[in-house]
Amino acid sequence: MHLDSWAQKAKQMGYRSRAVFKLEEILHTIKKIKNNSIVLDLGAAPGGWSQFVKKKYPNSRVYSIDILDMQPIDGVSFFMDSIENISNIEPIWKLKGDFDLVISDIAPNLTGINAVDSENIFELNKLTIEVASSFLKTGGYLVIKTFQNSMLKSLRKDMELSFKIVQTYKPAASKKQSGEIYLYGEM
Ligand SMILES: C[S@@+](CC[C@H](N)C(=O)[O-])C[C@H]1O[C@@H](n2cnc3c(N)ncnc32)[C@H](O)[C@@H]1O
Repeated sequence: MHLDSWAQKAKQMGYRSRAVFKLEEILHTIKKIKNNSIVLDLGAAPGGWSQFVKKKYPNSRVYSIDILDMQPIDGVSFFMDSIENISNIEPIWKLKGDFDLVISDIAPNLTGINAVDSENIFELNKLTIEVASSFLKTGGYLVIKTFQNSMLKSLRKDMELSFKIVQTYKPAASKKQSGEIYLYGEM
């Protein structure tokens, strides 16, 4: 499909972002998410991924965080905060160790200076992996967006310390030139 068509398709289906099709493809490949999952969406705004999870798995409980505000989604509990403060969000903190799936599309603001951006992405991704490994239950899954840069290898190694399976995905809906890539981990 032509890349602009993904945006059109998202609009037609009432999704807030075309990023949903990347998540859909990854979750379809994994084939392991159950309908009654407890899901944590990190960097959720404007809400496409949360919308998709709630639609695809209607019995799931979805908790979402972003530093930016987000329009409400039925059945999704949203918290406007940084993932650095996740332990202060009581409803999420209470479920520590119970989450079945953590999804992270988190991306920092880009400065345009490659070295700085790579470092910022790496630090935020490392924090995401830390959060996921302490909030997921044994056997839970993480899908995290990152970028193909000099730190990717190191990030993957970091993930391998807490996840027994780690795989890389480049979904068809992801622009080739974007450099984005997704890591999948199984605890
Ligand atoms: C690409 S967008 C997410 C799009 C979303 N998955 C969707 O489908 O609508 C990345 C988000 O990460 C958020 N973000 C960046 N740093 C964050 C942090 N420290 N804590 C929480 N969210 C953060 C940004 O505010 C932004 O909304």
